[in-house]
Amino acid sequence: MANPLIDAARTARLNAFAPYSRFLVGAALEAKDGRVFTGCNVENATYGLTVCAERVALFKAISEGVREFVRIAVVGDTADPTPPCGACRQLLWEFGGDLEIILANLTEEKGRHRLKELFPLPFDSRLLS
Ligand code: THU
Repeated sequence: MANPLIDAARTARLNAFAPYSRFLVGAALEAKDGRVFTGCNVENATYGLTVCAERVALFKAISEGVREFVRIAVVGDTADPTPPCGACRQLLWEFGGDLEIILANLTEEKGRHRLKELFPLPFDSRLLS
């Protein structure tokens, strides 16, 4: 069944700049108000400055003043799903809390998770007080 959020992530993936890994990723982040922010991975010749698709989508939304999110779709062209890396989990938790995470490839959905399940013991602002 068609899922517009997955389709948005698939389309964003086509813009990935990944000449080093050749691993293209797309993400689509749905805000509480229904707006969708997309991202793709952006690599760099230094390798370490690479930014994942999820963080690009998140930073686009944050820079537009959006702070609350409900779900994110992540798409790679692999049989196994592409779950967010540790850094992305930390950043998504900061703004999304217990987001729904939808993993898919170019042809099918591969799984749904809650962020809490993927990131069970977060360090966050509650620990700073
Ligand atoms: N990557 C993402 O964009 N998102 C993920 O969830 C996993 C990894 C990117 C980073 C790098 O450009 C390439 O995939 C290979 O690690």
